[in-house]
Amino acid sequence: MKKLSIAIDGPAGAGKSSVSKILAARLGYAYLDTGAMYRAVTYEALERKLERPEDIVSMTEKLDMEVKPDKDVMHVIVDGKDVTPYIRTPEVSGHVSEVSAIGGVRTAMVAIQRKQAEKGGIVLDGRDIGTTVLPKADVKIFLTASVHTRAVRRFKELTEGHPEMTMEDVEKEISRRDYLDSHRDISPLKQAEDAVLLDNGDLTLEGTAEAIIHICRSRF
Ligand code: C5P
Repeated sequence: MKKLSIAIDGPAGAGKSSVSKILAARLGYAYLDTGAMYRAVTYEALERKLERPEDIVSMTEKLDMEVKPDKDVMHVIVDGKDVTPYIRTPEVSGHVSEVSAIGGVRTAMVAIQRKQAEKGGIVLDGRDIGTTVLPKADVKIFLTASVHTRAVRRFKELTEGHPEMTMEDVEKEISRRDYLDSHRDISPLKQAEDAVLLDNGDLTLEGTAEAIIHICRSRF
């Protein structure tokens, strides 16, 4: 099979990152978690107490951002510092949709993402990969499940570090983020016309990756 570029888009908690990691490992591909990049920008903006979009854009344009896929987690290095441990906090999750709606932030992130993907043999996960970042991706998947199923998954991931969060908090947080992500002006979360819709509510992560590999093999 030729070295494909695979775009996995979908709402929060659909298992995109876990499935993309399994896929990348099975196919010997690179993996790029684009959400981690928007989270890193948000973390930096919060650290510097920036609120005005123009200030956030000017900070983003000066950031030296490096992405380093590792076995379990994709590391994001900003100006030489590994910010990965700080980007999945409720505070970052609560602000990331506002920051990622800013045009200048997206332009900077999309440029890095396209550069990473130019040689193929890569799985990218995000919200706008199939529609904007790689409109010519070889395989596009729109991965989803009910809000409740997604919240249950996120809840399991989150409670270790944040025992104060309730299931209701998680469900509210992902619904709010999905709403903002799909209603923004620039590159909103939406299924690309040529993407395969995959509801993985009844599938395990392994089973989801298997289904995507099957789609890849049936086409290439
Ligand atoms: O994938 P994850 O849930 O970590 O993404 C965090 C946020 O980053 C999303 O809610 C969205 O606001 C933003 N994002 C985006 N475009 C992408 C990936 C993520 O706007 N390609």
